[in-house]
Amino acid sequence: MTIPKGLLDALRASQRVCVLTGSGVSAESGVPAFREAQTGLWEQYDPHELATPEAFQRDPQLVWRWYRWRRELVDGVEPNPGHHALVTLAGLVPELTLITQNVDGLHQRAGSDDVIEFHGNLFQNRCFVEGCVVDDADLSLEVPVCSGCGGMLRPGVVWFGESIPESAMNDAAAAVSGCDLFFSIGTSALVWPAAGLADAARQQGASIVEINLDVTPLSSETNFCLQGKSGTLLPELIDCLAVQ
Ligand code: OAD
Repeated sequence: MTIPKGLLDALRASQRVCVLTGSGVSAESGVPAFREAQTGLWEQYDPHELATPEAFQRDPQLVWRWYRWRRELVDGVEPNPGHHALVTLAGLVPELTLITQNVDGLHQRAGSDDVIEFHGNLFQNRCFVEGCVVDDADLSLEVPVCSGCGGMLRPGVVWFGESIPESAMNDAAAAVSGCDLFFSIGTSALVWPAAGLADAARQQGASIVEINLDVTPLSSETNFCLQGKSGTLLPELIDCLAVQ
């Protein structure tokens, strides 16, 4: 696919870019997209039945086994060219804010700074009772406990039915309200409130770009809609920016 000249012109004129990524950006690193089937032991489980406070209270051991499996999986993969292209892009425009729905930390491992983790981070541990982040837990326990209150620890990710961390929400809203170009990359644009960020950007005058493997509910609302792999299209975008 060739990158539309209009998109290159918009990028060159842009003063503030905002990027929202989803699990499609990590797919080429080998991290299954959120709605793809789980593998092996976890095929029998729907993430919606594991990633909830109720599931955790019902069976904290099971939920910790799942998250340990996800942590090991992510530890064994590397950022892909799509992650690295976003780091390069940040150096080619005056300002770029990266908001991710992913909890895998791969943007940071690729070198992205100040990433807004809209759904938290897989490797963070928080007290289930107090909500605070706990860094000195004994993770060898089947269900680690808070060093402060002794309550159960939980992974620091946003579960279904839970709110987005207030700081992430505020930071994302500020980035969206001030941007002139908004990218939605590797996300099905189905899960709110993240799915509403593109519309908020458009309403304040930003141009909307989607880079995604499949068509989404956002696709028909964009100024530029590039259907394909982010690990291919993002490096191609960088190459075109550099040469033309
Ligand atoms: P989904 O699995 O819903 O969507 C992933 C999107 O990435 C799909 O539209 C695919 O077409 C696309 N895709 C797959 N491989 C790609 C590739 N190589 N290049 C580009 N696009 C590709 O994942 P998300 O949209 O991220 O929330 O899901 C959003 C949220 O739903 C997740 O963060 C999670 C879930 O509920 C929480 O965990 C709170």
